[in-house]
Amino acid sequence: MKKFLYIIIACLIAVITFTLLFIKTGESNMTNNKVLVAYFSATGNTKIIAEKLANEIGADLFEIKPAQIYTDDDLNWQNDKSRSSVEMVDRNSRPEIASKIDDFAQYKTVFIGFPIWWGREPSIIDTFMESYDFAGKTIIPFATSGSSDIGNSGEIIQSLVPNATVLHGKRFSTSVSDTELKNWAIEQM
Ligand SMILES: Cc1cc2nc3c(=O)[nH]c(=O)nc-3n(C[C@H](O)[C@H](O)[C@H](O)COP(=O)(O)O)c2cc1C
Repeated sequence: MKKFLYIIIACLIAVITFTLLFIKTGESNMTNNKVLVAYFSATGNTKIIAEKLANEIGADLFEIKPAQIYTDDDLNWQNDKSRSSVEMVDRNSRPEIASKIDDFAQYKTVFIGFPIWWGREPSIIDTFMESYDFAGKTIIPFATSGSSDIGNSGEIIQSLVPNATVLHGKRFSTSVSDTELKNWAIEQM
């Protein structure tokens, strides 16, 4: 009878241990599987898309704010001495970002939004890519522009984070519908 009781207790302990282990593993998978929408927007167009996207897919939102904001003069692409022109000509330019994301490890998928500048991602996006450990994460670029496509921005970003998987990405018009944005995002993930 005593032996039987011991077996029952041992079985109970085993069941409780496995249940706790299962819950713990589930928790850690969940906390490392979150989706982030990070974006830079100098004049507000990309911000519109980023907010819609985060809202549609229930992702966290982070604005990549420059430490020194871009003035209208800074953004003048017709002046080859303007701040943006000087930065975009210099491939090693890394404009400073004002703030950092606290717990970046919790994100598995990161959508990165930006305006197309000179046919590619602005240099501050390069700063962002080099500011975190992207190993094992999936990065999905998206952009707004006057008319240019996203070009090889995804490939450039991939070269900065070789241990991540960077998708080609897509350029959107600010009038893109919520449904189109959501369907595209789901296809990518
Ligand atoms: C410095 C600079 C360079 C730009 N280069 C391009 C370009 O190469 N192709 C294009 O279609 N639009 C270009 N644009 C237009 C922006 O991509 C477009 O207005 C974008 O939607 C702005 O996004 P934002 O409001 O989020 O900053 C450029 C704008 C700036 C300020």
